[in-house]
Amino acid sequence: MTQPNGKLWSGRFSQKTDISVEAFTSSIDTDKRLYAFDIEGSIAHCKMLAKVSIISEDDAFQLIEGLGRIKRAIEHKEFEFHDSLEDIHMHIEYALLRDVGKTALKLHTARSRNDQVALDVRMYLRDAVQFIIERLVEMQRALVALAKQHIDVVLPGYTHMQRAQPVLLAHHLMAYYEMFQRDTERFEDSLKRINVMPLGSAALAGTTYPIDQKYTAELLGFPKIASNSLDAVSDRDFIVEFLAAASLCMIHFSRLSEELVLWSAAEFGFIEIADAFATGSSIMPQKKNPDVPELIRGKTGRVFGSLMGMLTLLKGLPLSYNRDLQEDKELLFNAVDTLNAVVEVCTQLLPGIKINSATMRRAASAGFLDATDMADYLVGKGMAFRDAHHCVGNAVSYALQHKKELHELTLEELHGFSDLIEKDIYNILSLTQMIERRTSYGGTATRNVMTAIKVAEKKLAGESKE
Ligand code: ARG
Repeated sequence: MTQPNGKLWSGRFSQKTDISVEAFTSSIDTDKRLYAFDIEGSIAHCKMLAKVSIISEDDAFQLIEGLGRIKRAIEHKEFEFHDSLEDIHMHIEYALLRDVGKTALKLHTARSRNDQVALDVRMYLRDAVQFIIERLVEMQRALVALAKQHIDVVLPGYTHMQRAQPVLLAHHLMAYYEMFQRDTERFEDSLKRINVMPLGSAALAGTTYPIDQKYTAELLGFPKIASNSLDAVSDRDFIVEFLAAASLCMIHFSRLSEELVLWSAAEFGFIEIADAFATGSSIMPQKKNPDVPELIRGKTGRVFGSLMGMLTLLKGLPLSYNRDLQEDKELLFNAVDTLNAVVEVCTQLLPGIKINSATMRRAASAGFLDATDMADYLVGKGMAFRDAHHCVGNAVSYALQHKKELHELTLEELHGFSDLIEKDIYNILSLTQMIERRTSYGGTATRNVMTAIKVAEKKLAGESKE
């Protein structure tokens, strides 16, 4: 395609656009990836225009054929992009003019780029969101599989990054399953507000033509049509919502990544990331670095950045369309690409993680993780919980001084703290009992975690929505 002499909107202009303005206002590098949605939207628009006799059936046929050829040209990389044509909408319209001649000038009847671009972004995002949901489900499957595979592995659970109580590794992994479940639900919910058709709003006030928006919406699979034209051309709330949901989802990936980084450090030694998913150091030959989870953690900033950028973009914009809105796409695409890359790599990394169950168990066996259970034991024998807490506190202090664990104290030593303690205390202080007695709903007992895994498996297989 050659450079156009004039622009499709050049009627009221007497000077050529300055080249610096062309470069500054052009968004084609970013929005060209909307081409398929732009063409699909235009085809539906043509069909509607013909249906209500705004254009003839023959015109519509020519336009639709031409749009199909342009789509193929773009797909085959036989299409040239120029800054002078601003954006993807102008590129396609101009290409259509070259392809089918003057009939192309009818395509934009009863439409503006303002409702067109809103349409394109909504079509793009509903696809992107559905794809992300599918990917997140894969991620959840990987988590559940890992949990099931290591159902008998025990590690310390932490609060304040201090060893607190033993938990099943499966329980820990299923915590992330829950986070990603909320993410998929948030994305599902956002689709309701993405799936609204802005076409027919035209530039801002609606159109004088007798258009059939219901028909266009049906063709494009929109269950709802925007109720206010001014809102429709300037609404980007659905992008903010997506970016907020994406930011939370990135937080979940980032938290998981942080644990993978910590756990693979020698100080923990809980896991080893597969060689294929780790990288070396260019100077220290011994090193195997967890760069993938580190980068996931780092890339979280991009998505937060998009959210902040988008909020800033919208704040204080008067109705209705303003060119500021063109900046939305770069922010959105960057966040979508980042999240997609993160979900994919993290899903692939999980199954290859080597679990050092003996190290985890050892860590859970030391550091008085059984202190709460000892207090609960005393409560069971009739002591008030606060008294029991104090009594076990004394026992811990004594054990620390004597470099022992609670379960290593003799019965005589334990009697020094309370007469209520008997031989059965040692059973209570075993790792297995500490896990298995936590049967409250959502607790770490194997039976509960197995149930949670089964519920998750059913949900992931699409058998249950509960
Ligand atoms: N490239 C523009 C955008 O992304 C399309 C709409 C332009 N509308 C206008 N009146 N200049 O927002």
